[in-house]
Amino acid sequence: MITTSGLTKVYQSRGREVTALDGVDLHVREGEVYGVIGQSGAGKSSLIRCINLLERPTSGTVTVAGQDLTALAGRGRRAGKELREARSRIGMVFQHFNLLASRTVQDNVELPLEILGVSGRDRSRKALELLGLVGLADKAKAYPGQLSGGQKQRVGIARALAGDPKVLLSDEATSALDPETTRSILQLLRDLNQQLGLTVLLITHEMDVVKTICDSAALMQKGRVVESGTVGELLATPGSELAHELFPVGGTASGPECTVVDVTFHGDAAGRPVISQLSRTYNIDISILGAAMDTVGGKQIGRMRIELPGRFEENVVPIGFLREQGLQAEVVTDDGPAIPVQTPAPLTKEVAK
Ligand SMILES: Nc1ncnc2c1ncn2[C@@H]1O[C@H](COP(=O)(O)OP(=O)(O)O)[C@@H](O)[C@H]1O
Ligand SMILES: [Mg+2]
Repeated sequence: MITTSGLTKVYQSRGREVTALDGVDLHVREGEVYGVIGQSGAGKSSLIRCINLLERPTSGTVTVAGQDLTALAGRGRRAGKELREARSRIGMVFQHFNLLASRTVQDNVELPLEILGVSGRDRSRKALELLGLVGLADKAKAYPGQLSGGQKQRVGIARALAGDPKVLLSDEATSALDPETTRSILQLLRDLNQQLGLTVLLITHEMDVVKTICDSAALMQKGRVVESGTVGELLATPGSELAHELFPVGGTASGPECTVVDVTFHGDAAGRPVISQLSRTYNIDISILGAAMDTVGGKQIGRMRIELPGRFEENVVPIGFLREQGLQAEVVTDDGPAIPVQTPAPLTKEVAK
């Protein structure tokens, strides 16, 4: 639904060049909620502004719903109208709501429809329908100043939906809200995603947001996407920083003569007694150092940090057993980062060579 390829943005700032985006390839599938996470200055806002062409990319392309927006933007003034139309089908939600204080809630929602030239009656019908959708049917005549932060953001979302967009872009939409309001706004975005089949690309610096509603995620650092994939794929990627952040599990080894392994359960494997099978099959005592169950991207996932007696070399086979059961198993080394464990090749293959 949204594809960027080689997207690069270089700002000229006081005679210096700042590379905010450095060859970003992003692919957001239709109907998914996609989270982009990264620290301040990573280039997240630049990415969103380049996707709706509010900012002209220095190079690279942006395709939304099959339309190459960069090509439109490159064709000069005559393409302006086409670009405006394409942009009106991309909803945008902002951190600071950007509502007009002098207009009522309804008039704020009607604003984009006015710009699109929709007639008065159709405008107000649409605005009221959208306010109903975001749970603010009774606030149509109120002014933004009379609303709470969460209500203001609901107005912002209703306004973003005015042009019947296929895509909603959100730049830190919940960063100015308290945790409870954040949850309700995220739930609203999830509902809209499901009810309207809306594709949502949201930018955040909070891992919790990704955990609560995203199907897929990307991690940005210094203008680059350093990791991306569905939440399931990320959790199954050994050494994934996002997976570790999404789902941390703690616990330290009891001594040097043992092997610590992080085990991630998802899908079928979550329901099977794998750890007790492991213990019985290899006749080893397993200590559980830490464990957690959580819902990530709408799916139940479990993580467990276990300790096996003996050094890594002595545990290659039990760890291979875990992997054969469809679990992800990573050995935790002293200096932190986990190393992936390869399942030993089956014996038959060795013979065949
Ligand atoms: N209009 C601009 N002019 C010059 N530099 C900018 C401009 N907008 C952003 N930058 C710089 O680009 C980098 C990425 O910024 P931004 O996309 O806002 O990151 P994020 O949203 O992840 O915090 C930063 O170094 C920022 O200072
Ligand atoms: Mg930003």
